[in-house]
Amino acid sequence: MSTESKYRHILESRHALLLSIESSCDETAAAVVADGRTVISDVVHTQIPLHQAFGGVVPEIASRNHVEMITPVVDLALQKAGVRLEDLDGIVVTHGPGLVGSLLVGLTYAKTLAFAADLPFAGVHHIASHIAANYITFPDLEPPFTCLVASGGHSDLIRVDDYYRFTLIGSTRDDAAGEAFDKIARVLGLPYPGGPALEKLAESGDPKSIRFHSAFNEGTSFDFSFSGLKTAAIHELQVRQQNGTETSAADIAASFQHTVVEILSEKAIRAALASGDHTLALAGGVSANSALRNALLKKCSRNGIRFCCPDLRYCTDNAAMVGSAGFFRFLAAPPDDLSLNAIPGLPLA
Ligand code: KG4
Ligand code: ZN
Repeated sequence: MSTESKYRHILESRHALLLSIESSCDETAAAVVADGRTVISDVVHTQIPLHQAFGGVVPEIASRNHVEMITPVVDLALQKAGVRLEDLDGIVVTHGPGLVGSLLVGLTYAKTLAFAADLPFAGVHHIASHIAANYITFPDLEPPFTCLVASGGHSDLIRVDDYYRFTLIGSTRDDAAGEAFDKIARVLGLPYPGGPALEKLAESGDPKSIRFHSAFNEGTSFDFSFSGLKTAAIHELQVRQQNGTETSAADIAASFQHTVVEILSEKAIRAALASGDHTLALAGGVSANSALRNALLKKCSRNGIRFCCPDLRYCTDNAAMVGSAGFFRFLAAPPDDLSLNAIPGLPLA
């Protein structure tokens, strides 16, 4: 069968067994996903230990490690699924946004496999993939719905108009939520990635012990700003140190997390209500944060809104979510050709 007839088969049958690849930042991942909802295999190699010594992702180290790991990771995903290249209906891969050197490794690998095996191929948007992680966890979830995407690079409020059609409602004007978590964690001496470490420390702190103000976020805009809040938290810490005030790191972590969670959850609920949507989904690495998940769950139930968030394993970067988004990407538009490039700042809407 030619690539074209293989693609026509996807459209007509609305079924596809896809190999998906993700390498936008510091995870090399591959998965085999059926019909956008069923994960057959899912392999993630994380580079976190490599970057920990530097307190953040070093792009050059990231791309080199992707080059080393991409073949074993893809081979393992196919082997675990019991699938050969010729059994697949297509290949999908993240082509932006992300670190260009990292993106290029996965993209070039996917293009090469697609060319060699004569398979339809498509580039997928990283944020569309984070959103699609919800389709894996909730097989009955269908657009339209409102989604809050909070990750290391993004804090976006998005209207999911259709499976692969989005409207940006609001976005961060400076730091992303995950980035703010990572920076405060670093100031508190916690290891990279700071988000999960800060959440752990916050468990033993009092979330109401320090009040951090953020005038911008208290306004009516659907945009976020975390840079001022981050500076306020660092300033507060310095003043307390200078005054010799006894301040527990756990209280700072808990208070900072509480403030970020309040900002994210309030705006997300308002956005869902404004869109008239009955479902609010959460996605992106920060969706692993239990304080955020619990706050949204509570606020949604108070407002008669269904709340969805991915299983923990699909919150941070993985390829299963790319396989889900990739399926809907194929249903929405023809395959990409092999000239597709990596786009570090690829817009969603
Ligand atoms: O989606 P992701 O894996 O990568 C990007 O696309 O950026 O998100 C990573 C971000 C990091 O900033 C990390 O600190 C944050 O998600 N994160 C968390 C938690 N787990 C991961 N932030 C807060 N609480 C967590 N439990
Ligand atoms: Zn991500």
